Amino acid sequence: MTGVTDTKRFLAGGNVYLPHIAIIERVIDETPGVRTFHFNFKDEKLREEFTFESGQFGEYSVFGVGEAPFCISSSPTRSDHLEFALQRVGRVTNALHRLGVGAEIGFRGPYGNGFSLNQLQGKNLVFVGGGIGLAPLRSLIWNVIDNRGKYQNIDIIYGARSPADLCFNYDLDTWEKDKTVNMVITVDKGDESWTGREGFVPAVLEQVAPSATNAVAIVCGPPIMIRFTFPVLEKLGFTPEQMITTLEKRMKCGIGKCGRCNIGNLYVCRDGPVFTYAQIKDFISSEY
Ligand code: FES
Repeated sequence: MTGVTDTKRFLAGGNVYLPHIAIIERVIDETPGVRTFHFNFKDEKLREEFTFESGQFGEYSVFGVGEAPFCISSSPTRSDHLEFALQRVGRVTNALHRLGVGAEIGFRGPYGNGFSLNQLQGKNLVFVGGGIGLAPLRSLIWNVIDNRGKYQNIDIIYGARSPADLCFNYDLDTWEKDKTVNMVITVDKGDESWTGREGFVPAVLEQVAPSATNAVAIVCGPPIMIRFTFPVLEKLGFTPEQMITTLEKRMKCGIGKCGRCNIGNLYVCRDGPVFTYAQIKDFISSEY
């Protein structure tokens, strides 16, 4: 249940490794270690023509430092700019975090398969997210909300370790107010000011207990959350084909050449990053 992509469409100079130049237009602090960047291509023609699917990713580079893959976290239905979000964890992510408005970055992509909207249409959708794992889900959530009539019920169950670790608070507020969306927010442990729900995402999912009838669950979060969420969904009656996740495992080249991202006999960059649980369930506990 995944989309398809044509990676050749937006090649810079006909070279798969050559990035397009993009300009950072806005930086948002999501949590102490996570930032969202809004950006646009320098080339006006590319800005107009560029398209992607929710769930696809790009390779983002800081010149002289290196590049790293992140999903495009904005929705193709809102195309005046593109967004990606990242946690500061290494050399490239630290260098990206140091960039401000007006800085130039490199972008290659879009890569990967993305979510197949055709196969989600007419379904009840259950989004289960943790921490920065909401980034790829939010692209799809906005995509679905912007085409609300094509989908049935929308449940969003989202959690983070603490209130300070909740990402995209501006979206969470909007979705909470949206009467066509059932939004449930939880934190593993609240602080003095937290009046909301406490509990791990898989446990809260079990309490909310969305029906599996005509439903698809889309899951993204820390590996431990993903591992504990699938058994809960199975208990609720979801089949492995009704569960989708998106992975970001050790990706490097992004185009199926370096062999760093294999999970079983699949390449995350080329065959994913969106997979059904049916595709990955034999590898997920040992490899992810
Ligand atoms: S990232 Fe290089 S083969 Fe997948």
